[in-house]
Parts: sequence; structure tokens; C-alpha cells
Amino acid sequence: MDLIFISGASSGIGAALTRHLAAFEDVSVATLSRSRVDSPHHLSIDLSDPWSWRSVAEWMDTVVGEVLPRTLGFFHCAATLDPIGFAGEVDGDAYAANVVLNSASPQALGDRFIALAKRLGVPAVMVQISSGAATRPYPGWSSYCAAKAAVDHWTRTVGAELDARNAPITVVSVAPGVVETPMQAGIRQVDETDFPNVQRFKDLKCEGILRDPDEVARELWSLATRSDLENGAVLDLREMAS
Ligand SMILES: NC(=O)c1ccc[n+]([C@@H]2O[C@H](COP(=O)([O-])OP(=O)(O)OC[C@H]3O[C@@H](n4cnc5c(N)ncnc54)[C@H](OP(=O)(O)O)[C@@H]3O)[C@@H](O)[C@H]2O)c1
Repeated sequence: MDLIFISGASSGIGAALTRHLAAFEDVSVATLSRSRVDSPHHLSIDLSDPWSWRSVAEWMDTVVGEVLPRTLGFFHCAATLDPIGFAGEVDGDAYAANVVLNSASPQALGDRFIALAKRLGVPAVMVQISSGAATRPYPGWSSYCAAKAAVDHWTRTVGAELDARNAPITVVSVAPGVVETPMQAGIRQVDETDFPNVQRFKDLKCEGILRDPDEVARELWSLATRSDLENGAVLDLREMAS
């Protein structure tokens, strides 16, 4: 049986993935977020606290012991834009928490997930959720933009490492496009002083071209289960044929 870990499962894209995978009889889903999620295996945890990562690794071990999976997956969706505002003008503790959650947790949890897959000797796929913000600077989102660039480069580097070891483990980083989630709704509430691009995001909503999270979830699953995934690839979901 496949076992799929999903962080950020309480909202938006992670919640849509959790719903989508619940329909598959041969897939077990294990979810992480601070809020409770109704899934067979859930860990309520604050991933902006580095001390939580050891608990995540221990919990993953426990779930694996219960499910005895043949293959593993991990969609790391947890992230935050808060605090939106220019560096030096926002709350310092909130900025630091953003850096830890968005930049460090994908790397540290990715490391533990790969260690788990290697120890079990099973095929595994890790999907990091990236963003167009990885390459385009958005004033007001400095730590988020930097984090997504870091996630993309972590993916390229770890993909090369896994290839070098001939490991049956694949890591990819995927930008989903602009998706109608609570994160998007939050963006539209912000003052132009803190986020000068806010009107563009309001316009995208008015034009009705925001992506549906359920459609994005289906595309992410279809991508993750492809047999021709290139290790270390940095992808844009909108450019992928499923
Ligand atoms: N929506 C878009 O247009 C868009 C575009 C590009 C990329 N993305 C990326 O897609 C992913 C999902 O975004 P989304 O739009 O679905 O966002 P969302 O609706 O705001 O959901 C974010 C998720 O992250 C979890 N989370 C936030 N802080 C956390 C913390 N400290 N510890 C543990 N979990 C935490 C939240 O759960 P709790 O609050 O319950 O902890 C929630 O489940 C993110 O990586 C985002 O950067 C989104």
C-alpha cells in the first residue's frame, strides 16, 4: 500500500490533495498541520519550530510501522506569506518564523523523508510546492521569495545526489500557478504599502482565472505518479501535460 504524507493538509492545496487521495483504496494518507485534519493519521504540529522536525520524523516512522507501505510520497505544502510587508518593517519574530517554515522546513523534512525511504528501501517521491515567486521578486514577500528559490535549488541538488546513488527516490519542485486558496484570499486583503502588487492579484480574482485547488491536486497527483519524472526537476504545473 502507498503511504502519502501531506503537510499543509488543513487548507488550500494540501487539503485538496488530502480529499483527492481519500478516494483511493490502495493509498494511505498521513497529514500534518497545526489544525486538526480528519485523516487516518494526523500530526498537529507547528513546523516553524525546528524542534518539531524530530517529532515529525518519529511520527513518520510510527505511521510506516502501522501501514507497511510498498512506496512512499511526501507533498510538502505547508507555507505562509505572513508577515506580508517590507523587510525591516514587519514583526521580527514573525519574519523569522516565516524563514524557518518556508526555507528550512522543506530541506530538513526532505532530508528526514529521504533517510526514511532509504532505510525502508522503498521507492519514494517528494514533491516540494514552489512558486513563481522563486524567480520573480515581489516586494513585501522577501522571505517567501527567497524560500521558494531555496526549495528549487535544494531540489536540483538533492535530485543530483539521488541520481549519483542510483536511489529509487525522486524529488521535484512544482509551481502550481495562482490557486484560489485562503493564502490567495489573504493576499487580496493586504494594503498596497505593504504589497505593491496587490491590485494584480485582485484583478486575477475578478478575471476569474485563479486555479481550482481540486484541479491542482489532481494534476499534482498525476505528476507525482508519472514514471518519467526527472530527478531534481523544477516544474511549472501549468506547462505540464498530465
Ligand atoms: N495559492 C497559491 O496561489 C499558491 C501559488 C504558488 C505557490 N503556492 C504554494 O502552495 C502551497 C500551499 O499553499 P495554499 O495556497 O494551499 O496555502 P494555505 O491555504 O494558506 O494553506 C497553508 C497550509 O500550511 C499550513 N501551515 C502554515 N503554517 C504552518 C506551520 N507553522 N506549521 C505547520 N503547518 C503550517 C496551514 O495549516 P495550519 O494553519 O493548520 O497549520 C495550511 O494547511 C504553499 O507552499 C504555497 O507557497 C500557493
